[in-house]
Amino acid sequence: EKYAEITGWGKCLPPAVLTNDDLATFLDTSDEWIKPRTGISERRVSHVGTSELATVAARNALACADLDPKELDLIIVGTCTADEIIPNVASAVQRNIGASGAAAYDLNAACSSFFYAMHNATAGIRTGMHKKVLIIGAERLTRILDWTKRESAVLFGDGAGAMVLEATDEECGLLASKISCDSDARDVLALDFGLSFDRYNFDGVMPFNFEGQEIFKRAVKGMSAAVEDVFQQTGLTMDDVDALIPHQANKRLIDFLAKMCKVPEGKTMLNIHKYGNTSSATLPIAFAEAIENGLVKPGDTIVSAVFGGGLTCGAGIIKW
Ligand code: ACO
Repeated sequence: EKYAEITGWGKCLPPAVLTNDDLATFLDTSDEWIKPRTGISERRVSHVGTSELATVAARNALACADLDPKELDLIIVGTCTADEIIPNVASAVQRNIGASGAAAYDLNAACSSFFYAMHNATAGIRTGMHKKVLIIGAERLTRILDWTKRESAVLFGDGAGAMVLEATDEECGLLASKISCDSDARDVLALDFGLSFDRYNFDGVMPFNFEGQEIFKRAVKGMSAAVEDVFQQTGLTMDDVDALIPHQANKRLIDFLAKMCKVPEGKTMLNIHKYGNTSSATLPIAFAEAIENGLVKPGDTIVSAVFGGGLTCGAGIIKW
């Protein structure tokens, strides 16, 4: 039986930092409001496009895997802030890294995109259709945020993360996965644009509509159901789990989920204070940093949970 081993991981965080205090210089907001409600202290702002962030994360993950890009047979980029709709971000990455043998597509399930990509890539490897796949979550949300709207402007940031998955006979990687969509809640989180904003010199802002408290409830419900599903698939329980790595949208929401799933103290990956919500990039960045800081070690069992507009949800059991 084939498995999809995670052989490389990498991230890209643009160097420009925007703190809560910086935001308070031009918005009616404060660190005292933002920090306790969201867990966010600062976020990064990119001056380059999503495909460039994706490319840097990809190069780091390939170096970590010690893999020649020519050996890749598929690249999937999870993003909802593609520089252009056509051609996709994945083809820009393919060209930039010289992965001429790889198919390339973007996938949009909002903040759940990277996990959805991991689900697809793992399925492709486990069925034998693919052997070496690069998956990326990359976003440049600050490009389209309405900087006059404090409700949304304080929540998001830019960044990218990537993983290399390779076929192996050893039992590891994404062992169980559940993805779902609660379309009744389709309207509670919407970013209303359909054009390729960079190419057409778009310099306006997108109406960002969201109902924070409804998202909170639906996200916790969707993620805990998905977590229960993957526990059932594997016969594992929280006692077998070494770490929870969730989508970083809000610290209160993560704390709530961790409590519901009975995750022991100190086992939950949190980096939202540094980067805010980078949408599909939060998960691969969180994985990379969980390894850097020693929360995750070789052989560990990880449970991951995500949610995003749609309202999409997902959870997985990953053996590192
Ligand atoms: N600074 C100061 N005041 C603010 C700010 C701000 N940045 N934003 C809103 N307020 C004010 C509002 O105007 C409102 O004032 P009022 O009571 O006088 O009308 C008050 O604060 C409360 O606003 P709410 O929107 O009700 O704030 P809430 O307590 O719901 O917190 C939050 C908002 C943090 C977004 C919360 O709903 C939440 O955690 N939601 C889940 C996460 C989420 O929705 N993330 C965005 C989508 S992202 C994703 O990853 C899919």
